[in-house]
Amino acid sequence: MDLQLNDRVLIVTGGTRGLGRATAEQLLREGARVLVTGRSAEAVERAVVDLAAVADAGGGAVLGVTADNADPGTPARLLEAASDEWGRVDGALISVGGPPAGPVTAVTDEQWTAAFGSVFLGGVRLAREIGTALPAGGSLAMVLSTSVRQPVPGLAISNGLRPGLAMVAKSLADELGPSGVRVNALLPGRIGTDRVAELDAATGDAEASKAAAVAQIPLRRYGRPEEFGRVAAFLLSSASSYLTGVSLPVDGGMTRSL
Ligand SMILES: NC(=O)c1ccc[n+]([C@@H]2O[C@H](COP(=O)([O-])OP(=O)(O)OC[C@H]3O[C@@H](n4cnc5c(N)ncnc54)[C@H](OP(=O)(O)O)[C@@H]3O)[C@@H](O)[C@H]2O)c1
Repeated sequence: MDLQLNDRVLIVTGGTRGLGRATAEQLLREGARVLVTGRSAEAVERAVVDLAAVADAGGGAVLGVTADNADPGTPARLLEAASDEWGRVDGALISVGGPPAGPVTAVTDEQWTAAFGSVFLGGVRLAREIGTALPAGGSLAMVLSTSVRQPVPGLAISNGLRPGLAMVAKSLADELGPSGVRVNALLPGRIGTDRVAELDAATGDAEASKAAAVAQIPLRRYGRPEEFGRVAAFLLSSASSYLTGVSLPVDGGMTRSL
């Protein structure tokens, strides 16, 4: 199947590591032009150097911008940078660092407020500003979590914020659909990134934590970042042109609902 990503211009926030990085790699393999972001200038520089080799092989191009999703100026800066470089923007993957772990009984007001700014409002703002700037055929994908459908033990903030973001994505799909712009959400379960390794380590016994999680996954393993990247690239491509308003789990069958 041809994803028809050749020369398409995509923004990938949180693209220096993990799920964003894996998606950027897949898009570049398909010939897209990709702007990746992260908060660390050094990590952005390193990612651009590494991704340039993938871009060369795929016929695409990569650009890096240091930016925080929580910053109200970020969407305009990213749109401007991509447009200056390539003259257009066709879509975005909106990913961000996960919120701190902790149960409802222990998470502080400060932690809720900080996570709301980057995970919730940052995501809403990026989706709104980039989504309304996209031409017909544009596609947005928001990286959320299986916590949209069922609580993840010990991740109160994710459980609290992500279901709301999924409904924002669904509402935006209604609003932008008549203009030919699609909006979908991705719900990763346990994909083997730094974030998941940190969550396992934080339990005090990473091996036992991973074994317990894997036992709940029908495919009996963590997903590989590239397995997530391929699904995200499909959602961002015109190969999924009649898919919008969907929350798509990428979880090896883990979620206990349809
Ligand atoms: N991996 C999974 O299985 C899984 C499951 C459920 C949900 N999720 C969610 O999916 C998202 C991505 O997860 P991941 O595993 O890819 O995480 P990760 O490995 O920690 O990577 C996060 C990426 O986002 C960047 N980032 C963090 N905060 C940012 C901000 N405020 N603005 C811009 N960029 C930021 C990081 O770079 P800097 O730190 O340099 O900014 C990095 O490039 C997270 O929200 C996570 O909670 C992941």
